[in-house]
Amino acid sequence: MALLYKSDPSRGPTWKALFAEHAPDIEIRLWPDVGDPTEIRYLAAWLPPENLAEFSNLEVIYALSAGVDQFDLSQLPDHVPVVRVLDPGIAQGIVEYASLTVLSLHRQVPLYLRQQHQHEWTAHALTPASERRIGVMGLGNLGTAVLRHLGAYGFKRLGWARSAHHIEGVDCYAGKAQLPAFLSQCDILLCLLPLTDETRGILNADLFAALPSGASVINLGRGAQLVDADLLTALDSGHLDQAVIDVLEQEPPSEEHPFWDHPKIWLTPHIGAMTFPQSAFGALLDNIRRHQRGEAMTGVIERLRGY
Ligand code: GLV
Repeated sequence: MALLYKSDPSRGPTWKALFAEHAPDIEIRLWPDVGDPTEIRYLAAWLPPENLAEFSNLEVIYALSAGVDQFDLSQLPDHVPVVRVLDPGIAQGIVEYASLTVLSLHRQVPLYLRQQHQHEWTAHALTPASERRIGVMGLGNLGTAVLRHLGAYGFKRLGWARSAHHIEGVDCYAGKAQLPAFLSQCDILLCLLPLTDETRGILNADLFAALPSGASVINLGRGAQLVDADLLTALDSGHLDQAVIDVLEQEPPSEEHPFWDHPKIWLTPHIGAMTFPQSAFGALLDNIRRHQRGEAMTGVIERLRGY
């Protein structure tokens, strides 16, 4: 019974050691040392190998990322489920990044940094958290964790997703028809949507126009969800106040990319969260054991839906 690990090589030995200690019945092979591909039952990968057809006894592909848009799901064998490893470490990282940036926007940190740069000592009125409305697009395990956590600060919280959700203390909206009503109430909008054909380019001029004047946007989803030029127009016109961007369509961006130097854009290099073997291992092993017992796994991707 062998599992092939094909992701960041520096984390490979840690994965191998965790399996050796806690699940010695599963042999770990680190890409590119595949050995006989027909012996591989499980693949834990950021991207599957190109010669996947040679892995004729593959039973499950475990995606070691929060998003699976980098997989061409149509090219993967139908009988092999693709399963997200719901790493609590990723959720923790996203909660930290979201809290840091939401609080920074709420307390106008970018403005005060600009003022300090100009030796300007001006205090602006504080808005109480109870009057600040935070909207999260995408209500999977990450969006839900962020909204739950932000409740501790007393923000007014809203959520939007493709389908209906119920999260205590959060006004949830669903589907395209309810998107404008949701957007019209978001002072800070945070995107945690999966990238699909439906969400590609969703952060565009129409969406920005539906936000209240002075709103800010945080993109923690995928770069291809944002129409860069529309964001620049909305910021430069003054309709949007600030943007925090952790993901770009092309990473790293070119030296000429306008986001590098834009005064109202806070750019970070896709650091929202990372899969830690130490925290992801338990979720991965639990899913492998479920599969071995013939039980339903958690985090299974629906091929047609794309997430
Ligand atoms: C990072 O963006 C991930 O999908 O894990």
